[in-house]
Amino acid sequence: MEQNVKNKKDKEKFYVTTPIYYPNAKPHIGTTYTTVAADILARWNKLLRKDVFFLTGTDEHGQKLALAAEKSGMKPKDYVDSLVTEFKNAWKKFNIVFDGFIRTTDKSHEECVKKVIKKLYEKGDLYEAKYKGPYCIHCESYWTEKDLVEGKCPSCNRPVTEFEEDAYFFRLSKYQDALLKFYDENPFFVLPKTRMNEIKARVKEGLKDVSFTRKKFKWGVEFPIDSSYVLWVWPDALTNYVSALGCFESNKFKKYWPADVHLIGKDILWFHAVIWPAMLMSIGVDLPKTIFAHGWWTVEGEKMSKSKGNVIDPLEIAEKYGVDSIRYFLFREAPFGDDGDISIKRIIERHNTELVNKLGNLVLRVTALAEKYGIEQNENKLIEKLKFDEIKEKFDNYELDKALALIFDFIDTCNLYVQENELWKTRDKKKLYELCDSIKAIAILLWPFMPETSEKIARVLGFEIKSIDQIQKPLKLNKIKKSEILFRKIG
Ligand code: MSP
Repeated sequence: MEQNVKNKKDKEKFYVTTPIYYPNAKPHIGTTYTTVAADILARWNKLLRKDVFFLTGTDEHGQKLALAAEKSGMKPKDYVDSLVTEFKNAWKKFNIVFDGFIRTTDKSHEECVKKVIKKLYEKGDLYEAKYKGPYCIHCESYWTEKDLVEGKCPSCNRPVTEFEEDAYFFRLSKYQDALLKFYDENPFFVLPKTRMNEIKARVKEGLKDVSFTRKKFKWGVEFPIDSSYVLWVWPDALTNYVSALGCFESNKFKKYWPADVHLIGKDILWFHAVIWPAMLMSIGVDLPKTIFAHGWWTVEGEKMSKSKGNVIDPLEIAEKYGVDSIRYFLFREAPFGDDGDISIKRIIERHNTELVNKLGNLVLRVTALAEKYGIEQNENKLIEKLKFDEIKEKFDNYELDKALALIFDFIDTCNLYVQENELWKTRDKKKLYELCDSIKAIAILLWPFMPETSEKIARVLGFEIKSIDQIQKPLKLNKIKKSEILFRKIG
């Protein structure tokens, strides 16, 4: 027993986060993508037997939400309360299993944020001055006139609001050299590498102090230094990664911090790779290990937008084509880190050719033959063709599309094995065993991507998916049941 406790304590940890989402926009392809990605990484690390903490949540303060609440004729808190369940339900539908769900209106979060601000102030890193310039309410971002593209927000292309107000500024400029030094010493701090280079170049151009407060509305954490201000939504939101662990003094914080990876979209990299690390440096807390910025999805080559009427609703397509089919598509279609393009045509193509014809067909054929003719234990030579070390490396480097492609190469190898050995004629029980044992490995490796399908496969093979080590352990001889049809052809 004591041994067990010790082992649990010694387990390596893995802390993965998604951004916290503004709840006024329903869960969409973009937010679903990041959250499924975090689920994939969490599941992969669970297979590696790590002690995983996966955090997601909602970002509930700020002017954008205050205005949206007003439009709905609701108080901001009632408004956000009414939206959060929709996020939780969407993630459940996608079989996303998180360990923490933070809401920035949680009292414990607000207390933690105030602690951070007080520490920044005590450090001398907050000072009062006048702010004047453009602000994008949609992105909740301050810009300079120079940043604007044709007078509009360079990130979302919406009109900006000009304003002038008293503010407390954070001395971001003070951290320029320390940040550049840190980037040089930690080349994997921002991934993919191209993003690291972009950030470095921008920081080298010079950092300006940034206003950390807002004055004209009240929907935010009260600024603890001066109650005539509310805190700007970004330092409030970024602190979620720490507050969700119970803030600095908690055991959870001691166990899981620093985060192993903050998964984000490329549009919010500046906040995560520059402002957040500078805040942590100021208060003397370790920086996260990696910030991974993924690309953006377009729909048939165009930016998704309500006005264009081309928004793809993830829940609708999951209902239509199956959750695993969508999870699969998102991580097969585009290299993780690059932009990608969605079309229903491509989803159906991948579903029919890869999931129905390759994976589904392999499992169905082999389990049907194994049920009919039985299997006989044998050394599995076929599995030597599985590029396990490479797959592991791809997962660890966040090359999720490449890991998936390698697993599917092995599915092709297995289908070829059935074909070349004409197993429906030869009824070779030993070869059928090799195939069942190989499908066991496929089910384990696909579990992060397609948990429901993998668990169905595991059930017909008579095992439960727990750890990557099960791949090396030969499948126990038991009666194999013919699998149900895993994927039905569309169209
Ligand atoms: N609340 C902030 C994040 C605070 S984190 C401390 C926020 N919220 S958001 O609701 O706007 O979430 C946006 C997330 O969805 C970002 O990571 C963004 O990159 C992602 N996406 C939004 N549209 C997207 C696509 N079309 N494609 C891929 N991801 C995109 O920002």
